[in-house]
This record gives sequence, structure tokens and C-alpha cells, in this order.
Amino acid sequence: MKKKINIGVIGCGYWGPNLIRNFNSLAGCRLKTVCDLDERRLRHMKELYPAVDTTRRMDDLIEDAELDAIVVATSVRFHYPMAKKVLEAGKHVFIEKPMARSSAECEELNAIAAKKGLIIMIGHTFLYSSPVRKIKELVQAGEIGKLCYISSRRLNLGLFQKDINVMWDLAPHDLSIILYIMDEHPLAVNCQGNANVTVGIEDIINLSLTYRNGRFATVQNSWLDPRKVREMTIVGTKKMIVYDDIQPLEKIRIYDARVERPPHYDTFAEFQYSYHYGDLHVPYVKQEEPLKVETQHFIDCINSGARPISSGHEGLELVRILESASLSLQQGGAAIPLSREEVQPDQEARVVSAAAPPEGVRTPGLPSGLIPPASM
Ligand SMILES: NC(=O)c1ccc[n+]([C@@H]2O[C@H](COP(=O)([O-])OP(=O)(O)OC[C@H]3O[C@@H](n4cnc5c(N)ncnc54)[C@H](O)[C@@H]3O)[C@@H](O)[C@H]2O)c1
Repeated sequence: MKKKINIGVIGCGYWGPNLIRNFNSLAGCRLKTVCDLDERRLRHMKELYPAVDTTRRMDDLIEDAELDAIVVATSVRFHYPMAKKVLEAGKHVFIEKPMARSSAECEELNAIAAKKGLIIMIGHTFLYSSPVRKIKELVQAGEIGKLCYISSRRLNLGLFQKDINVMWDLAPHDLSIILYIMDEHPLAVNCQGNANVTVGIEDIINLSLTYRNGRFATVQNSWLDPRKVREMTIVGTKKMIVYDDIQPLEKIRIYDARVERPPHYDTFAEFQYSYHYGDLHVPYVKQEEPLKVETQHFIDCINSGARPISSGHEGLELVRILESASLSLQQGGAAIPLSREEVQPDQEARVVSAAAPPEGVRTPGLPSGLIPPASM
């Protein structure tokens, strides 16, 4: 019989308990210990899961030889130092999104994991959701024709964070979905935003990713909107998909809609776009909790040694985008190249190198005045 994977979780705040509930429900693993600095959160976890050990000391998990893997569900600034300790102790690690505060931190974690043959999985939860997987399937099958652009809006009132801006909080969801569906590295990123409530912490941002052949994706994130909006539009040359994650059942709608230009015309009167309005189709999408699929995938990858769908490499790519977008934000929306090899010569003049931020520019993602902790 296959050995159960022993799991520990650090962070029992808002999100950690969702991971705890799912790991606790999986047959292939044993949730052994949960950790938080807050005694009240630990008492609550003990009430829910009496068989699980609780501790305020993260080192109790690190030093526990029985633990195979540790989940890091704390604030972003703790992801790197905690994950580094976990990997150095020879354990697999699941890190909540975003992977870390900088690409340098992500690269270091990936290097340690590679050297020690350990799994890093990032909580890019939407890659494990049925609607997103359905969209990927439709796009890959050519159902919507050639993909032209994706636009994504993730808006609500709050929850205001103190150590990261709205982009580092919400955009990982939009970006992970966009990267998954586009299946191509973007060339550059632009980002504009504003801090309306807390000085130095943007609560509204508009971000765009430029792709080859004029394709692009836009993301709008806000903590200052009266409505909760989770909407993505995927436009192809033949059809368009609207993904509304707020809808309880019909989350995906496929519109047989497109615009066609007449191939020939002699007079202006003859020139008319032809607007095609066809059927609206709502495909069946399996009802499944994404976190259940995500946590099971982590256990499967540990058992098989396979690279997770949201591995440290996907985590790094996403953090690179956030890092460059932070630079763009500081420079009023300038285009920042995401990979110098792929920058076209005519873009060179307009883009600013992401490699060396100008002096005085704050650490990407961190509000001005906050100094990153040296270590845990
Ligand atoms: N995948 C998703 O859909 C999703 C959704 C929300 C949040 N998140 C991510 O989950 C992570 C946690 O977010 P949250 O909203 O739960 O934050 P939170 O502040 O509510 O919870 C973090 C918890 O970590 C604990 N903690 C901090 N330092 C610790 C230490 N040294 N040892 C032990 N415990 C410590 C805190 O006491 C707190 O209870 C973040 O990375 C966030 O981006 C992911």
C-alpha cells in the first residue's frame, strides 16, 4: 500500500484553513500539524480537527522528520524565507500565490528544489478550476478561431492589505489564467495605478501584456469598487467567450459573434462591416472545488515526481511580470520588456530595462517605507 504523505501547514489566517480542510479530506495524505503565531487560530483549528497537532513554532514542523511536505499560507513577505527553510530541510513545499516578492527569491528557491530533487507547487488556484480548464480546452481546439485578446476584471471593495498593493494581491489570479490560456511568453508589460486610500499602496491598477503578432491581454484590479466583479472575456476571430466566476452555475458563455470585413468594395456605400450574431452556448462545466483538485495534484506530484502545472517555474514567470509591472507603475506606465531576447528592435527605444531599477525606486511590490525582513 502507498505511504500517506504527511503534511504540515503554516498559516491559519483567512486562506490557510481552506487548504487545511482540503488536505485533511484527501485519502492519500495525513494532515499532521498546523502552525500559526496566533493562539486563537490554533485553538479554532484544534476544535475543527482534534487529531491534528498545533504549534506556534514553525521550527517544530521543519524539525519533524515525519513531515514530507509543508504548505506556506502566510503573507507574501514570509513566503521566501519560510519556503527556503522547508526546502533546506529536505521537504516538498506548497507556496501560496504569489511565489515570493522578487524573481531573485523565486530563482533561488527553484535552484534549491532542483538540487535536492524536491517539488515546489504554487497556489495558482484557478488553473485547477473546471471553467478555466474548459476555456483552455476550447481555445486549444480552435473553437474560437485565432485568439485576439483577453480582458480580465477582478474588482471589489477591499480587502485592503498593508504590505502589498492590489496588483500583488489580485493580479496573480488573472495573470496565471492568462498565461495558461495564451500559452506563450508575453513580450512586455505596462501598468498604471493609483493609491487612493493608503499612501504608497495602489488600490487600483490597469495592466497590459503585449504578445507577438499584436495580441495582448489587459487586467484591471481594484479594492475600490462597489461590486464584486470576476469577469474575463476571451475574444477569437470566430467566437468569443465570457467567463463570469460570480455566476453560480453558468460561468462560461460562448458567443458565436464576430465581425467580418467585405473582401472587395468599390464605393464607400458598399463598404460595410458584417456583424455576425449567432447562438449563445453555455457548455457543461463539472462542479468541483478547485482547491480539492489543487491539493490532490500536489500529493500526486510528490508521489510521481512529476512537475506540477503551477510549479516554481510558473511561479517565477508570474513574479517576473509583477516585478516588471511594479517598475512600470513607478514610471507612469512605461513598457517594460519581459524577455530581452524577444524584444523587437523598434520596441528598444520605448522600453526601459527591467534589469536595474533606478536608484531610489522601492522594492517592487512593497509600499515605500517598508523594509523587507532579512530572514525569518
Ligand atoms: N489561492 C487563493 O485563491 C488565495 C486567496 C487568498 C489568499 N491567498 C494567499 O494566501 C496567503 C495568506 O493570505 P491570508 O489572507 O490568509 O493572510 P492572513 O494574514 O489572513 O493569514 C496569515 C496567517 O499567517 C500567520 N503567520 C504569520 N507569520 C507566521 C509565522 N512566522 N509562523 C506561523 N504563522 C505565521 C498569521 O498569524 C496569520 O494567521 C497569501 O499568500 C495570499 O496571497 C491565496
